[in-house]
Amino acid sequence: MIYAEILAGGVGKRMGNTDMPKQFLMLGNKPIIIHTVEQFLLVPEIAKVLIGCPKDWMGYMSDLVLKYIGTNEKIIIIEGGKDRNGTIMNGCKYIEDTLGLAEKDVIITHDAVRPFVDYRIIEDNIKCVKKYDAVDTIIPAADTIVESKDGKILSDIPRRDFLYLGQTPQTFKIKELMKTFDTLTSEEKEILTDACKIFVVKKKEVGFVRGEEYNLKVTTMHDLKLANAILEVGLNHD
Ligand code: CTP
Repeated sequence: MIYAEILAGGVGKRMGNTDMPKQFLMLGNKPIIIHTVEQFLLVPEIAKVLIGCPKDWMGYMSDLVLKYIGTNEKIIIIEGGKDRNGTIMNGCKYIEDTLGLAEKDVIITHDAVRPFVDYRIIEDNIKCVKKYDAVDTIIPAADTIVESKDGKILSDIPRRDFLYLGQTPQTFKIKELMKTFDTLTSEEKEILTDACKIFVVKKKEVGFVRGEEYNLKVTTMHDLKLANAILEVGLNHD
């Protein structure tokens, strides 16, 4: 089975003063997270779309689904975790405990605040996870990326042609993800906030697919303005 999990367990601190987590803010005529969920409902291979959100917002989320999508037996709202990987692991545990987990089952995890993910990116993730246990979605780095270890002077300027920017979806064979996550110490769990990095650190192969410039993450108010502009001009339909 192929499952999707929309990661919506955060509160969006970098967004500044808003009266709700950023995934619930309006983008055009509907909340950001509704745009995101709809993209996954369009993919026939996906059996269930889990939404992991803060406990206090689960009722609100379920009202949003009813209002903008309607009754849909593919959608399951679950409690998010204390960090992003915690939300992913809650999704895996829910599948294991409630839906039944088979050897080859796959989870496509995606940031709730990347509303412009599209069919091609999701399908490429599904194809790529047949070959690898973990898959990332990335785009080539357009700017030079510099490193400063002390925050004062540069320590390195890595070759740009080796560098990419990570997006989501990130897709995993669920059993392999749970097994690998279990090998981490609690200190490693604190540091490894990117789920694919867990595989890289444990020297396991991570495949990747091409993302899109427009598959942006809404982190700040500026990003939300940009996302509204993209929606208006239709830059996400090249
Ligand atoms: N996320 C999650 N569970 C958490 C924390 C984050 O599912 N415990 C999700 C967010 O809801 C978001 C995605 O991970 O959709 C990307 O994370 P980020 O942009 O960092 O979201 P926030 O943690 O909400 O933002 P901030 O760091 O500004 O508080």
